[in-house]
Amino acid sequence: MKQSLTIAIGADHGGPALKASLVAQLRAAGHTVLDMGTDGPARVDYPDFAHPVCAAVESGQARFGILICGTGIGMSIAANRHRGIRCGLCTDVTMARLTREHNDANVLALGARIIGEAVAADIVAAFLAAKYEGGRHQDRLDKLNPA
Ligand code: RB5
Repeated sequence: MKQSLTIAIGADHGGPALKASLVAQLRAAGHTVLDMGTDGPARVDYPDFAHPVCAAVESGQARFGILICGTGIGMSIAANRHRGIRCGLCTDVTMARLTREHNDANVLALGARIIGEAVAADIVAAFLAAKYEGGRHQDRLDKLNPA
């Protein structure tokens, strides 16, 4: 049986429609979703949504975070300012699998203007299904944060 997870999700004005489809996908799969907005087309600033999602992951309130903006780039930059966050910006399922297996990513960034809903759905499924491999990869993660 698949594990039920708590997943925090946030988007800027580039991603409410994709966020809504992913929230539905995650809930249908039995996960608990902490939806932190935004939900409409009004312009907002992506760090205002990246930081609460990352804080939820860092505190343990959520196991994973998903962040959506137009390209995914701004969200990934904001997320990776958090010392406890490893955010992977993914545009295909191979990146999604490898960012879990090799980087132990705990946040997934997506670009709503770059990929479609079906690709995003497959990316999220691949991200959640993959397992961190540890071993040599842990040596590298241990070197990520500057002293
Ligand atoms: C908003 O227009 C856009 O800059 C934002 O969604 C994102 O793509 C930034 O990286």
